[in-house]
Amino acid sequence: MSGKQNWIAARGAPLRGELGIPGDKSVSHRAVMFAALADGVSEIDGFLEGEDTRATAKVFAQLGVKIGTPSPSRRIVHGVGVDGLQAPSGPLDCGNAGTGMRLLAGLLAAQKFDSVLVGDESLSKRPMRRVSAPLAEMGAKIDTEEGGLPPLRIHGGRRLHGIDFVSPVASAQVKSAVLLAGLYADGATSVREPHPTRDYTERMLSAFGVDIEFSPGYAKLRGGQRLRATDIAVPADFSSAAFFLVAARIVPGSELRLRAVGLNPRRTGLLAALRLMGADIREENASSHGGEPVADLVVRHAPLRGIEVPVELVPDMIDEFPALFVAAACAEGPPVVRGAAELRVKESDRLATMATGLRALGLRVDETPDGATIFPGTLRGGRVDSHGDHRIAMSFAVAAQVAEGEVEIGDVANVATSFPDFDGLARRAGFSLRAG
Ligand code: S3P
Repeated sequence: MSGKQNWIAARGAPLRGELGIPGDKSVSHRAVMFAALADGVSEIDGFLEGEDTRATAKVFAQLGVKIGTPSPSRRIVHGVGVDGLQAPSGPLDCGNAGTGMRLLAGLLAAQKFDSVLVGDESLSKRPMRRVSAPLAEMGAKIDTEEGGLPPLRIHGGRRLHGIDFVSPVASAQVKSAVLLAGLYADGATSVREPHPTRDYTERMLSAFGVDIEFSPGYAKLRGGQRLRATDIAVPADFSSAAFFLVAARIVPGSELRLRAVGLNPRRTGLLAALRLMGADIREENASSHGGEPVADLVVRHAPLRGIEVPVELVPDMIDEFPALFVAAACAEGPPVVRGAAELRVKESDRLATMATGLRALGLRVDETPDGATIFPGTLRGGRVDSHGDHRIAMSFAVAAQVAEGEVEIGDVANVATSFPDFDGLARRAGFSLRAG
């Protein structure tokens, strides 16, 4: 692991206090994108200062959009209108962000100019045919590397036509890419999903004045519409809050309040799963933040039961499985996960990286092609590799809080993609966590 950033984590104090969690990643990406395409100036408040979302903002600067940063977590975006993006002078770097690359693919496929989307080592291994195929059906021309991998070479100047797309995969990124291309296409574009996924694109396009019809698992819009500038308040990211939710559940003596967390129902499958496991997590001070439901989450330590995670919850907690695996490791019976093969094509193969890491800490994990059974037990110290996956690194930092020895977590720099100050916040809450 030399040359890479590592953490040493160990059992800390009971987790106590109130935490403010940074802004939602999915919402921050979309806020910059749609504000850039709008007519007029939009202000984004609560923007996630993570590497992924900053990469998206930088891409739009390369496309000729002026974006000001009056203070951290705020952006002033001078929209150029749907037809105002300019040809970039070089490749557009999406960093680690699948959301950035896939949504941009839909948007750029409809522009007059050519563009090239590149990403880091992890993103360069992630499947892009899921977006290039429906976009090609709409008339786009996108060349990928062998196996449908990035870079994406997008040929501009194509006339797109609307399609009725029945998506084979429950993916908000795929849905959003097709809808963004649909904004430029002749006629109407609709997307039907095998299971409803997060609907931020639909809600936010609507907030920007686009006439879009949507219900769980379905969305439809007409091409040729313009976006009207609007201010966006980004809620705290549920996926980042998830690590603290699980930590406070499993560390004896803990009680944490996580302030104003975004509770979009397509994101909160982990809450439902933890409640099925017997967790008592209270929602207080409920309100609405930029059209999204938010509430404080108050969570305390208590024992957890093993469950079979209901398959219909999987898309609603797709980013939370690493954290769930840690909760599972501390449950009273063996939790089972199925129907989650998508985890194999995230920032790492999350079924394999979590199973390997938990085994390194002394647990038995039986992996299947689309899930795993985790046999709870006492976690011992050891060495795990996060494979450069932010959510794996943070999950093992949580696991270490109940381990019997020190856990060395390798390759953690990518935590900055989604949760830049995780370690500082975690230490303030009571974690034992240091650079190693
Ligand atoms: C996201 C959609 C999900 C999720 C990712 C963010 C989005 O990916 O895992 O972290 O913002 O649309 P998929 O569309 O691949 O499921």
